[in-house]
This record gives sequence, C-alpha cells and structure tokens, in this order.
Amino acid sequence: MRPLVIALFESRDSAVALRRALGGETAEMELRRFPDEETYVRIDSDVSGREVVVVCTLDRPDPKFVPLILVAATARDLGAARVGLVSPYLCYMRQDKRFKPGEGITSTYFAKTLGASFDWLVTTDPHLHRLASLGEIYSIPTALVHAAPSIAAWIRANVEAPFLIGPDGESEQWVASVAAQADAPHAILEKTRHGDRDVEISLPDLSRARGHTPVLIDDIISSASTMIKAIDLLKGSEMDAPVCIGVHGIFGGDAFARLRAAGPSRIVTCNTVLHDTNAIDLSEPTAAAARRMLA
Ligand code: R5P
Repeated sequence: MRPLVIALFESRDSAVALRRALGGETAEMELRRFPDEETYVRIDSDVSGREVVVVCTLDRPDPKFVPLILVAATARDLGAARVGLVSPYLCYMRQDKRFKPGEGITSTYFAKTLGASFDWLVTTDPHLHRLASLGEIYSIPTALVHAAPSIAAWIRANVEAPFLIGPDGESEQWVASVAAQADAPHAILEKTRHGDRDVEISLPDLSRARGHTPVLIDDIISSASTMIKAIDLLKGSEMDAPVCIGVHGIFGGDAFARLRAAGPSRIVTCNTVLHDTNAIDLSEPTAAAARRMLA
C-alpha cells in the first residue's frame, strides 16, 4: 500500500518532491482553527493499516506543535500502521543543559513529547553539541540527512577558490566535512556567547586564506549575531566579503536585514526552512532517509 503523506503548513510545497520520491499519496484532510483557536483535524483518506508520513518543518515551532501532535494522534486513532515525522529542521535542540539554576532542559522534554506521538523521525543536521546523537534524547528510530555533500557541491559549482570558515568550535563537525568534500581549506574561529544576541569571536591567523573567497558556514542562522560578528572580523582582516551559508536559515525578527547590511557577498541556505535564500535543495537525501525508515 502506498504511504500516505500529510504535509503541514509551509511544508506543503516542499513535500511534493518527497511524496513523488516515496511513491506516496497526498492525504485528503482538513486542518483548521475553530473560532476559539483550538485545532480541528479531519483525515478523509483511508489511513487504516497504512504508513503515514507527516512532513512538518519545525522552525517557529510553538504554534505548529499542537496541530502536529493532534494530526499524528488522529492518524494513529484511525488505524495507521505507523506514523513517521519528516521534520527538515528539528527545533528545541539548543537548550540541552541547565546553564543557570532553575532552567528547563527543554531539548529533553521536547524529545519525550514529540517521540510519544511518532514512530520514527527524519531530520537534517540537528544541533548536536553536547549530545553525541539524537538517540540520547529520542527513544524512537531516527535517520539523519546530512547537508554537507549538497553544500560542498554548491560551493564547487558557485565559488572560486573557496576558503571555508566555521564561526565556532561547534561548527567544526559540518565545516570540516564540507571542506573535505569540496576539497577546500578551512579554519575554525573561537566564539564565546554572552547572551541570545551577544557573541564574541576571535580570529586565528588567516594569512593562508589570502587570495581565496571566504565562505562562512554555520548550522543555524537565528539572530544572525554569529555570522555578523564573523563578517565584521573578516572585514577587519582585509579579506573579501564572505559568502554566508547556513544549513537552517531561521532569521528571527530583523536578522536577515541585519545580516544583509553586514555586507556578505551572498547569503545561501538549504531548503529545510522556507526562505528566499534557499539555494541548496535537500529533497533527494531527505527522501532517501525517509525510504530507509519505511523499508
Ligand atoms: C551555535 O550554537 C550554533 O551553531 C549557531 O552558531 C548559532 O545557533 C547561531 O545563532 P545566532 O544566529 O543567533 O548567532
């Protein structure tokens, strides 16, 4: 039986390629708000005994979360064999530790709640910093999509003599991998975060980058403070304006305008979060990961 694909919110367009690649059928359904702002869900397609694939990227997650788990619960209640989630951007991965007394470790709580609603999860380069793998907080099977091969291919096709730069130690995991696949040199900067929008970055000796095009790569661009600080430092060291690449371009508030004003030569993101900067398409590796879960 063909898998039934339920795409929510802005993931509806990007899910078309996934549905085709999975040989799936688009679910007939209604999802709307009652006047009191509670969620109404109705799935008209036959769900019984079928694999259901819910596609919902989870940037700006809070308003999406209740509809998402109600859709999953409805599919299960109507007899789905399994209900999986393809969430190209997985939220609540950054507060993975109690930094100050009394704080909630929200990655863990979120993983428990989301994991109770789904049988499997596919996501792209989740923010694994202090966690070695998603399995430390998710008890359901997970499959990861890695953006590095697609980013490396984009760099090879679009950037002359690239020199890759990671803005902080955490970025080393993806920057080193992209650099190896793009056959380009790389360096990692040192970052100290003092607050949500307050970061301090120091520059190592980048003399070997002269004559190259700097390419800043980070997993998430949220407030863009990290990218902006790194661009300012590169300007001070007389390098060309960098290309900025984010796997997940969240761009909270006026972040995109502020990043553009900082003067990068180009801002490029993967299509895990819908944005005008999406230039790197991850539909194929995402479909491959979902196929593994359905096999
Ligand atoms: C750090 O933990 C991440 O890898 C990114 O550097 C960070 O999320 C970027 O955030 P912002 O754009 O708010 O500086």
